[in-house]
Amino acid sequence: MITKDKLDRINELAKKKKEEGLTEEEQQERKALHEEYIGNVRNSLKAQLDSIKIVPAEEVEQVKPSKNGNNITKENIQDAVAQVSQFLPNENEELTDEEKERVAFISDKLGKEFRNQQISDEQLSQVLTGNPSNPTGQAGDEMLSRMNNSHKGLTDWALTFLKDENIKPSTILDIGCGGGAAIKNLHERYPKATIYGIDVSDLAIQKTIEFNQKGVTEDKVRVTKGSVENLPYGDDFFDLVVSIESYYFWPRFQNCLEQIKRVLKPNGTCMIVAELYGDLELTYKENLIAQKFNQNLLTKKEFKDSFEKAGFKNIRIYTEDNPNWICVEAQK
Ligand SMILES: C[S@@+](CC[C@H](N)C(=O)[O-])C[C@H]1O[C@@H](n2cnc3c(N)ncnc32)[C@H](O)[C@@H]1O
Repeated sequence: MITKDKLDRINELAKKKKEEGLTEEEQQERKALHEEYIGNVRNSLKAQLDSIKIVPAEEVEQVKPSKNGNNITKENIQDAVAQVSQFLPNENEELTDEEKERVAFISDKLGKEFRNQQISDEQLSQVLTGNPSNPTGQAGDEMLSRMNNSHKGLTDWALTFLKDENIKPSTILDIGCGGGAAIKNLHERYPKATIYGIDVSDLAIQKTIEFNQKGVTEDKVRVTKGSVENLPYGDDFFDLVVSIESYYFWPRFQNCLEQIKRVLKPNGTCMIVAELYGDLELTYKENLIAQKFNQNLLTKKEFKDSFEKAGFKNIRIYTEDNPNWICVEAQK
């Protein structure tokens, strides 16, 4: 058993190792303590894995914590994810293959449940009534404002893939501009560029204009109601076309991609960015939204094939896990 005295001794030896080095004897002692410590952590992890019960999202509210407190509920899911993932990076090599598999399995399940919990019931009803494919009404208004914040991390992450020294866009288009945050972000990054926004939703157009008052007044931000299916811009016009969390709703994706290629200048960049794609297993709430709005989720392979078919070059697909993000980038 790992007592407080032993933990203190582990820390003392670690400090000494760093500062002045350990004698042969101390090294042996440290190794023995370390093994005991790892064994202890391993047993406790095993016990946790055995007693964890994953609760379907729709039952979370009704589930009472079990006697050992290991049901995965709204309150403790974040802790559970942290516990498992914290354990992994340093100590992974100490696990047996079977344990590694179980840890991978459980963290996958926990991650999925965690994503489910991240959409609160209130947000779910906002999305279902506000309609992300064409936001309307008060729920749509609130949803777009929320997305302006919640998609910032995703947008910033994707924009890191633009190599600033090579790309100095003077004309940029954001397709499905929603609440207008990505346009503001791009305007701040490229103050000399003119940023165009397009969206099928009247409400999104209004919100984007309100959110970009300064850029609109200076005529650096221009917003138009319309659809990606039939872009109202001339050929070879944009240096950069981005679209965040919108591709799912586009009718006939292949045609839309060909429209994007048409309006891009030669060597211009197209960037499609999203949280969901076809290779992911959807959570219960994500499924509800996807079904209601006929979201068309493409797999990485489908993205690649479509970009190739449209004649794009340098197709790169970047992904991130937890949160799940995808960025497909290519040049005309
Ligand atoms: C989930 S919202 C994302 C908004 C914004 N890009 C963001 O990241 O917060 C999807 C947006 O795509 C727009 N959209 C859906 N279909 C579209 C189409 N065919 N052409 C242009 N925009 C479209 C919707 O109106 C909505 O504003």
